[in-house]
Amino acid sequence: METHTPSGPRYSRVAMLLHWLIAISVIVNWRIAEAGEHAAKADREAIMANHFALGMIILVLTVLRVAWRLVHRPPPLAAHLKSWEVALARVTHGIFYILLISLPLMGWVAMSAYGQAIDMFGMFDWPALPIGADPDAAGAVFDIHAVLGKAMILLIGLHLLGVIKHTVFQRDGNLFRMLPFGKVKG
Ligand code: HEM
Ligand code: HEM
Repeated sequence: METHTPSGPRYSRVAMLLHWLIAISVIVNWRIAEAGEHAAKADREAIMANHFALGMIILVLTVLRVAWRLVHRPPPLAAHLKSWEVALARVTHGIFYILLISLPLMGWVAMSAYGQAIDMFGMFDWPALPIGADPDAAGAVFDIHAVLGKAMILLIGLHLLGVIKHTVFQRDGNLFRMLPFGKVKG
């Protein structure tokens, strides 16, 4: 497989587009899940249907992002980072990809164990996996999903702290690595 290495300090346009689409979708999907949690029982199903459909779209976007990343290598992390910063960034980004794949997969498996397809905003049905009905297992998978979903939100907080530390306090232009404008310091 031929791989492309970046010529500057920035991510490619496609990587940027996918990063921001995924970031916005995850934050919106978190707020939808919270709204579902706090809604009256009669409204909960309709609200959560949006969480399921957007979750599956995030899975598709993440698969595209990972495939693109395998062929178009990201720019190396800034050379001035300390070794603990490099380690923390690598671990955070790695866990992000694991959660971005496993959260919707768990949702899909659990819905399938309820014998239910996922209604994709009324456009089509995302089919259930051919597994036997097991509502108890489905409930257990959703419990784990909710815990890992909250871990994802904490990780976003950490990620944001990193961006603020670098962009606002150290002024190394870190944020602009993920944007097509602004000045990035090596
Ligand atoms: C909300 C969900 C978000 C997720 C899941 C997410 C995920 C990621 C991942 C996985 C990377 C590593 C990219 C790679 O090497 O493939 C990354 C990089 C980056 N993200 Fe996010 N991100 C999110 C939100 C944000 C937000 C809100 C900001 C800024 C305000 C941001 C700014 C950045 C920047 C600047 C980088 C490049 C870091 C570097 O290479 O130095 N991200 N993000
Ligand atoms: C990347 C995609 C997804 C993210 C980031 C995500 C995130 C979350 C979060 C943060 C919660 C917890 C809300 C709370 O308890 O305060 C949650 C709950 C839930 N999610 Fe997701 N989710 C995703 C995809 C899916 C999918 C695809 C499905 C189903 C097909 C799904 C089904 C559920 C259900 C049923 C709950 C409620 C669980 C419970 O409280 O027991 N999610 N999700």
